[in-house]
Amino acid sequence: DWTMGAYREEMIQKIRDRVGDKKVICALSGGVDSSVTGILLHEAIGDQLTCVFVDHGLLRLNEAEQVVQMFRENYNLNLIHADESDLFLGELDGVSDPETKRKIIGKLFIDVFQKYANDIEGAEFLAQGTLYPDVIESVSFSGGPSVTIKSHHNVGGLPEKMGLKLVEPLRELFKDEVRALGHELGLPASFIGRHPFPGPGLAIRCPGEITREKLEILRKADAIYIDQIRKHGLYDEIWQAFAAILPMRTVGVMGDGRTYDYALALRAVTSVDGMTADYYPFTHEFLGETSTRIINEVKGVNRVFYDCTSKPPGTIELE
Ligand code: XMP
Repeated sequence: DWTMGAYREEMIQKIRDRVGDKKVICALSGGVDSSVTGILLHEAIGDQLTCVFVDHGLLRLNEAEQVVQMFRENYNLNLIHADESDLFLGELDGVSDPETKRKIIGKLFIDVFQKYANDIEGAEFLAQGTLYPDVIESVSFSGGPSVTIKSHHNVGGLPEKMGLKLVEPLRELFKDEVRALGHELGLPASFIGRHPFPGPGLAIRCPGEITREKLEILRKADAIYIDQIRKHGLYDEIWQAFAAILPMRTVGVMGDGRTYDYALALRAVTSVDGMTADYYPFTHEFLGETSTRIINEVKGVNRVFYDCTSKPPGTIELE
């Protein structure tokens, strides 16, 4: 796409003008926005950029490895893989309140990011993948009464605290334009088309207390569910799909034995922007087949529910 090509050159020039010979840090999440931001910055300023990928132990099956591998194989940028899962899971131990979980994760994320950033001598800028809709939203929210349904996790407030200046190259773009730019920058299609994944990760898909055992079960079940969706060619029709592990065990029967295992909820929605959503109308065959696969393949699960709540009244995530 020649327009995106020209736009890319223009943005690279703007980044160079703004940053000069200073150093920049960027938090990579593995999502499209931060990935495109990181890659664009790298094209513009090369080794002056350091990206930090914070692994909070709440990512999906093999996700950290996939993200790090994708960057290492395709882009020769400075990348720190910060495996801080013990820290995050330790602080979350015994916590079941949704807002408390979000606050703990948000605060630790900033602490961890700051710790790594402090080691990068002379960093003056923080690169962020803010999009145009985010800019609009923060403007329109600032004047009116605000109702916090869920405190969102991002690096907001961090630049001031650390005395960093912001670089936000995607500020004028909509999501579809970021995807086109990602394509232009050689980001694999599998990354560009990924469903959104929330900052607090699996923590908010594990209502009640988070344990390593539950996370492991959840990861396996979620991977099977997504595999089923891909096999049936439905992935791109769906805004977001994921499994959640419920804070209860139920009785079942398997072979000639009684089981007492976890129940899972499967969720899938269509949406334009995540603000409202409709539950996805899977066929009974799909649901039956997926439930059977999960129960047969994942130890510790003996029951699967499908969440047929739209938003409103439900939210997309369970917490
Ligand atoms: P809810 O659950 O509020 O989610 O209907 C709407 C969209 O936002 C995502 N989400 C988050 N994204 N940090 C994020 O970056 C968060 O803390 C967060 N909470 C929810 C959610 O996955 C959905 O796409």
